[in-house]
Amino acid sequence: MSNSPEPQIANAVAALERGELVAMPTETVYGLAADASNPEAVRKIFALKGRPADHPLIVHLSSASQIDDWAADIPQAARSLADAFWPGPLTLVLKRAASADTIVTGGQDTIGLRVPRHPIAHALLQAFGGGVAAPSANRFGHISPTRAAHVREEFPTGIAVILDGGDSDVGLESTIVDLSGERSRLLRPGAITHAQLEAVIGPVQVAVRDDEGPRASGRLASHYAPHTPTYLVPRERLSADAAVLALGDLPAGISGIALPRDAAAYAQALYASLRALDQMRRARIQIEMPPDTPDWLAIHDRLRRAAARDGDAEA
Ligand code: TXA
Ligand code: MG
Repeated sequence: MSNSPEPQIANAVAALERGELVAMPTETVYGLAADASNPEAVRKIFALKGRPADHPLIVHLSSASQIDDWAADIPQAARSLADAFWPGPLTLVLKRAASADTIVTGGQDTIGLRVPRHPIAHALLQAFGGGVAAPSANRFGHISPTRAAHVREEFPTGIAVILDGGDSDVGLESTIVDLSGERSRLLRPGAITHAQLEAVIGPVQVAVRDDEGPRASGRLASHYAPHTPTYLVPRERLSADAAVLALGDLPAGISGIALPRDAAAYAQALYASLRALDQMRRARIQIEMPPDTPDWLAIHDRLRRAAARDGDAEA
């Protein structure tokens, strides 16, 4: 293997130009990327993921100066958030430019845009020049990948080039804020917090119900889910027969993984841990309930969805 990523970037650009799929590391999670202005290529994303055609994709750009190519009627709040947080783990939902293909937007009149900060994503986007549509590189409803090996597990075939950018350092999908309507709305919590958004643009409504507003598949009740039935439980309910994700340390007699009590470090390792717990092939996964403070909000959001199929019904 070459130490220089450049030949691989060139291969990936060539694949995008041919209308093929590329796995792109980002600081949040790995993306399954295609040329956003090539409808045939974008269709391959939906087909490979098994994703319904009405679920919109995020278009990734190398710089904020490109947002006018994809969005229209851009409010000042969008420019301010782009200045403050791009490149970084923030997606802006804006009114779509007429030239943006509706296959990317799931048929909606809005478009999700993000400038990632991962150096390999940035190099790819800059070398490619155009917009790159990329959902997380996992099968629909499954856990997002945070390392190249996860992408290979999800998709042994179907991707022309998998760029290896190491472990994603944020580990949770981007914060999504909708600026296409009258009021700013937080659609998906992430590493950029509600308070950080409000510090820049003033009041941001938190979208409370999953059936409100624009569709966002990351807002479906069951998403980000392991195959093993998964339950969120208080520490005293952790059980010897479960594969356990504990906080701080594993209690005596309990098998599984202990993650740090620091929210950012926990988030970084969460998805790889859920995959490892799935592979323990126990009858169930138990996740120790993390603290209920604002820095754990995005983690709670994902854990609730990972456990949603199984609810609180654990005996
Ligand atoms: O961190 C991330 O956002 C990663 C990396 C690869 O950038 N991408 C990601 O993509 O998580 P995906 O497709 O798995 O989730 C993107 C979410 C979906 O829930 C989608 O419905 C929502 O963004 N979304 C995209 N465009 C939208 C729009 N126009 N209106 C509302 N939601 C939108
Ligand atoms: Mg996803």
